[in-house]
Amino acid sequence: MEITSQLRADQTRIEEALAAYAARWPAYGALRDAMSYSLLSGGKRIRPALTLAVCRLFGGREEDALPFACALEMVHTYSLIHDDLPCMDDDDFRRGRPTNHKVFGEANAVLAGDGLLTAAFAVLAEAPLPPERICQGVTTLAQAAGPAGMVGGQVLDLLGEGQSLTEEEITRIENLKTGCMIEAAARLGAIAAGSTPQEEAAAADYARKLGLAFQVRDDLLDVVGDEAEFGKPIGSDLANGKSTFAALKGVAACEAWVDELTQEAIAYLNPFPGKEYLCGLAHVLAGRTK
Ligand code: IPE
Ligand code: IPE
Ligand code: MG
Ligand code: MG
Ligand code: MG
Repeated sequence: MEITSQLRADQTRIEEALAAYAARWPAYGALRDAMSYSLLSGGKRIRPALTLAVCRLFGGREEDALPFACALEMVHTYSLIHDDLPCMDDDDFRRGRPTNHKVFGEANAVLAGDGLLTAAFAVLAEAPLPPERICQGVTTLAQAAGPAGMVGGQVLDLLGEGQSLTEEEITRIENLKTGCMIEAAARLGAIAAGSTPQEEAAAADYARKLGLAFQVRDDLLDVVGDEAEFGKPIGSDLANGKSTFAALKGVAACEAWVDELTQEAIAYLNPFPGKEYLCGLAHVLAGRTK
């Protein structure tokens, strides 16, 4: 199947599964609406698509990976809601719509994030997989999202505002705040498939490079992107005094680096027949405009 049609098929499957989870949440005040507003608002679904694709690569069934994929997307969505809050990046647009706190107020936005984070772990725990795979899945997502991963990266990202960070410092932040979750997406696919440790490690290596490329591209689009297409404000990083690669190295160097990282990512998949989709996906992401 062609890359874009496979990606669309995966996205549809993920949308349907997420909507089914959302329909089960209780409607206390604005909570379900606020959680659903961000969860079902048309993100690219790159991370859960990666989970499904890695599961397929290692011979697993897509339906086994779907709860893991959805749980990870819930945690990702919570991270975006909180990232946009006035106390963090203070952004008013996300996925082409007003941000969660703009619509539901800050308290509901904080709680919608909390709700998504917590619900995600119930989704993982209830996955129809052998208990040891569920345990591995829970640990993998918790480590990637927590203080040693995304949350840690977000803290360093905020601390770095107004500072001139070195290339090494920026790389560390980007790996933590974005790379860890993308790596977890790949690992979850491998775990759902019951892959070997070597297979999981290769998928993680691929995803680590892909994740860094993804965040460098995000920083680049914050400078040169089209606001309507990107779906979030252009110039947010500059306004917040963030040190990014786009600011440090300039647009052309970043574009070249994204291509380099993409090649490095793909090289990790060499041993695996059936790697074409994941290679194609890496190229699609390297050239993305949203
Ligand atoms: C946005 O992630 C946050 C970053 C880590 C750059 P995405 O670009 O995947 O956002 P959505 O989910 O498609 O909206
Ligand atoms: C976000 O980095 C990483 C997260 C963990 C949410 P950014 O702050 O650059 O993400 P966007 O550009 O707001 O999506
Ligand atoms: Mg941020
Ligand atoms: Mg932000
Ligand atoms: Mg950004």
